[in-house]
Amino acid sequence: MTETGMNRRDAPSAGELPLAGKRVVLGVTGSIAAYKAADLVRRLREQGAEVRIILSRHALAFVGPLTFQTLSGHGVFLDREEEAIGGEDDAAIRHIALAREADLLLIAPATANLLGKLAHGIADDLLSSTALAVTCPILVAPAMNTVMWQHPAVQSNLSLLQSRGVLVAAPEEGPLACGVEGVGRLADLSAILQRVVDCLARRHDLAGERVLVTAGPTREFLDPVRYLSNRSSGRMGFALAEAARERGAQVVLISGPTTLTPPAGVTYLPVITAEEMRDAVHRQFPSATVLVMAAAVADYRPAVSSSSKLKKTGQPFSLPLEPTPDVLEGVGAIKRDGQIVVGFTAETQDLEAQARDKLTRKRMDLVAANDITEAGAGFDGETNRVLFLTADGEREWTPCEPKRVVAHRLLDWVLRIRMRRGKGIPAPSVP
Ligand code: CTP
Repeated sequence: MTETGMNRRDAPSAGELPLAGKRVVLGVTGSIAAYKAADLVRRLREQGAEVRIILSRHALAFVGPLTFQTLSGHGVFLDREEEAIGGEDDAAIRHIALAREADLLLIAPATANLLGKLAHGIADDLLSSTALAVTCPILVAPAMNTVMWQHPAVQSNLSLLQSRGVLVAAPEEGPLACGVEGVGRLADLSAILQRVVDCLARRHDLAGERVLVTAGPTREFLDPVRYLSNRSSGRMGFALAEAARERGAQVVLISGPTTLTPPAGVTYLPVITAEEMRDAVHRQFPSATVLVMAAAVADYRPAVSSSSKLKKTGQPFSLPLEPTPDVLEGVGAIKRDGQIVVGFTAETQDLEAQARDKLTRKRMDLVAANDITEAGAGFDGETNRVLFLTADGEREWTPCEPKRVVAHRLLDWVLRIRMRRGKGIPAPSVP
C-alpha cells in the first residue's frame, strides 16, 4: 500500500501524481491536532498538490507559521490584523483570491466552533470568509473531545453541512489529548489524503453514468409492530452512492431503513420491505446504466402478516416463512446490452465458489464477496474486505479498508468493465 491507500500496481508514476496541478487551500483551526496538519502539508505535496495555508487565530496557540511556510514553500495566511507571514499579502480581498484559486478547501483539524460557523454562514475571520467564498468542494476533518463531538449542536451542524455537499473525514476512536478514550481523534492522515485524492483526482470519470444503488436491510412484518430484518447498517451502499456522485454520476439511492443521512446530490428513495425494494428497483432500472445491489434484502418473509398485533398465548409459536422476490435475479432477466449489474454476497464458507455461482446464476457483471467470519469485513462496520470477481474471470482481493475506499475500488471495476466493452454508455430505455 502507498500512503494514499492505493495498491502499488495502481500507484502513479512520477509526472502523473494524483494531485498534480491541483491547489488545496488548507485551513488549520485551534485543536491540539493542528500539529498533524504540518505532516498533511508534506503528504499533499508528495502527491503533487500545491498547498496554501490559512492558520486561524486559535491555531496559532498550537502551531507556528514558520513550520507551515517551510513545508508548503509559500507564505502562510494568518488572521491576525490581516497579516501574512512570508509575503503574498495582497490586501483585504485575500479570501476572494484564495477562494478563486482553490480546487479544494480542506479544513483539518476542524473544531466544533469552525463547524458551527460554516453551518450558519458566519464569516468573522479569514478562514470562515474563504469558506463562504469558495465554489470548489469543501472537506472538513473534525477533531475534538468526544462529548463535544456527540453534542446535538455539533451533530446537527454537521448534518446541515453534509446536506449542502460538504465532505467529512469523520474522526476516529482512540485516546484523546484530554485524557479520555473515545471518538474525536482527527482521522488518520492517510484517510484524509485518500479523500482528497478521491475528490480531486478521479472527479468526473463516471460522468454520463446513471448509477442505481441499493442499501440497507429490509423489514418483513409479521404484525404492525414486529418484523424480521438483519444487521445491515447501509454504510456500504451509502458510501457507493456518495463515491459515484463524487465521480460525476447521476445517482439514485434506494435504501431500507437506516440511521444514515443520504449523501447530498443523490436522489433518495426510502423503502421498507423486499417487495417495495423490488418495485422501486424495477421502476428505476430501465433508465440506469449501472446497478449496484448492496442492500441486504431479506430472503424470507412471514407467509402471513397480521393486520392487528399478535397476542402472546403462552404456547410455542411457529412462524411459516415464504421466499421474498429476488431483486437481482429479476433484474438479470430484463437487463439490456451495456447495463452493468453488480451484486454483493456474504459467505461464511467456500467464498469464491459460492460467489462465482451467484455471479453466473444472477447474470451479474461483477460480484463483491465478503467473508463475514473475518474481522473488519461485511455487515455493520466501518471497514470491509472484499473479493471482486468479474464475469470475465478476473479476481481481486482488497485489503481491509474503509467502506468509502472499497466503494471507489468497486467503481474502478465498473469503469474497467465499461471500457473493455468499448460500446459506451447505453441510452435509457423508454418504458
Ligand atoms: N438480493 C436480492 N434479492 C433478494 C436477496 C438478495 O436482490 N431477495 C441481492 C443482494 O442485494 C445481493 C445479492 O443478491 O447483491 C446477494 O445474493 P444472495 O444469493 O442473497 O446471497 P447472500 O445473501 O449472500 O446469501 P445466501 O447464500 O443465503 O443466498
